[in-house]
Amino acid sequence: MKTYTGVKDLGNLQDAVKEALEVKKNRFAYKHLGTDKTCLMIFFNSSLRTRLSTQKAAMNLGMNTMVLDVNQGAWKLETERGVIMNGDKPEHLLEAIPVMACYCDIIGVRAFAQFESKADDYSEKILNQFIRYSGKPVFSMEAATGHPLQAFADLITIEEYKKKERPKVVLTWAPHPRALPQAVPNSFADFMNEANVDFVITHPKGYELAGQFVRGAKVEYDQRKAFEGADFIYAKNWAAYRDPHYGQILSKDMNWTVNTEKMGLTAGAYFMHCLPVRRNMIVTDDVIESPQSLVIPEAANREISAQVVIKRMLESL
Ligand code: CP
Repeated sequence: MKTYTGVKDLGNLQDAVKEALEVKKNRFAYKHLGTDKTCLMIFFNSSLRTRLSTQKAAMNLGMNTMVLDVNQGAWKLETERGVIMNGDKPEHLLEAIPVMACYCDIIGVRAFAQFESKADDYSEKILNQFIRYSGKPVFSMEAATGHPLQAFADLITIEEYKKKERPKVVLTWAPHPRALPQAVPNSFADFMNEANVDFVITHPKGYELAGQFVRGAKVEYDQRKAFEGADFIYAKNWAAYRDPHYGQILSKDMNWTVNTEKMGLTAGAYFMHCLPVRRNMIVTDDVIESPQSLVIPEAANREISAQVVIKRMLESL
């Protein structure tokens, strides 16, 4: 594997999940693959889970790890070509990328949507420059339009907890005080559309996601109706995708918060969220603390999804 930016890079998804469950049983069995190899993780944005789980995954594989927070301690980076660099950014990404690549074998990049230009965000301007100019395998640690390590971990979690062959999985929008990117719901939809699940997306009108991620999924604007008979409820906020409202908050309607009453409409569904989560905005204390909450197992599986991806990259070096 040379790049990991979406579900397509995993090939057969059932095989990938099987590999993940094997890795989980014996996570130190592939230590030889990473001996004397270095994983560089570059963060343009904050992280708790991705930072720790990816580092742990690389260490499980015997790798050395280096972490760079671009906005803390590195030179401020210019990302636009053609700019006269007489401002506060002393280094250009086009030099920084090949320099960083000199010191490592595999690169992970976190670079969120900036909501300044939909075209820039949806062309994955930063991530694709790393893929193009580093000459090294590059994996997304959440980019502008996707968070495939999270979605892979979510699928592994669903596989572990499902009680029927083809469960009903509902992705629900929920309110949030700030405008958040569509990366997590995009990737979750990307994976669920390839998995053996009945997939439903529910959100207020105006929050439609990009067609390339929604594909054949059922979109239900009535959240309560969507919850009926569900086996998994996956909550997430996202800002509007469609023009002219790209990146904007259209609603903070607390009637969309996931609560015990709504979970009662489901078939005893598990509750999922990628974290971090705003309690009593996205989900009530009762639901996230209930035995049906899978937020910690999901986070734990981030180590496993990252390990499968890095393992496949090491195998292709
Ligand atoms: N879910 C997730 O990616 O968490 P972090 O932003 O803390 O890495």
